[in-house]
Amino acid sequence: MDKLLNIALPKGRLGEKVYAMFEAAGFDCPSIKEPGRKLIFENEATGVRYFWVKPSDVAIYVERGAADIGVAGKDILLEYEPDVYELHDLAIGKCRMAVAAKKDFRDNRARTLRVATKFTNIALKYYNSVGRDIDIIHLNGSIELAPILGLSDVIVDIVETGATLKENDLTVVEEIVPISARLIANKAGYRFKTEQINGLVKKMREM
Ligand code: PRP
Repeated sequence: MDKLLNIALPKGRLGEKVYAMFEAAGFDCPSIKEPGRKLIFENEATGVRYFWVKPSDVAIYVERGAADIGVAGKDILLEYEPDVYELHDLAIGKCRMAVAAKKDFRDNRARTLRVATKFTNIALKYYNSVGRDIDIIHLNGSIELAPILGLSDVIVDIVETGATLKENDLTVVEEIVPISARLIANKAGYRFKTEQINGLVKKMREM
């Protein structure tokens, strides 16, 4: 049994903030700061093995046990509903999931609403909860284009600063849910490494 705690970090700007929090909690791994393209780093002294993964893949590594713990956005957890424990809200990477449309948009409830999004499950659940029939148009990026080009009536997407909406003459119509980075754990991994993981969570709660 691997004694090191396997940790999936989201690659990118958020990941650097996340690593700084792990480091401050006593789970440091100095080699991770060396420049290069390496993806895996270990420190036997603190008992950790980190790997950089694409942010939207963190939950897959954790759910399948390739990582014991990881940090994933609440958007990904709501969209894919991975079978993991959600242990802590890191209160970073804050943004919101929202419905946005052109400024002159008026909802005509007599017609099916066309919704473009990367977050199909979140959009379906939201509109189901308000009893609105929709036609989902799944896109992989540049979602803001859809209402401008008449591909959809609205979009469901992440809004952080609001700059992307503003620069494309779109506006928020409804807020669906606030989003932030969450510490998640593999269910079996948590059973075997409870002490290490609980120690980390305790330190993070004190930050
Ligand atoms: C996200 C989101 C918006 C933008 C919102 O895209 O899809 O386009 O950020 O941020 P803002 O409110 O600060 O402008 P991201 O940059 O993650 O890339 P994507 O197009 O691949 O989703």
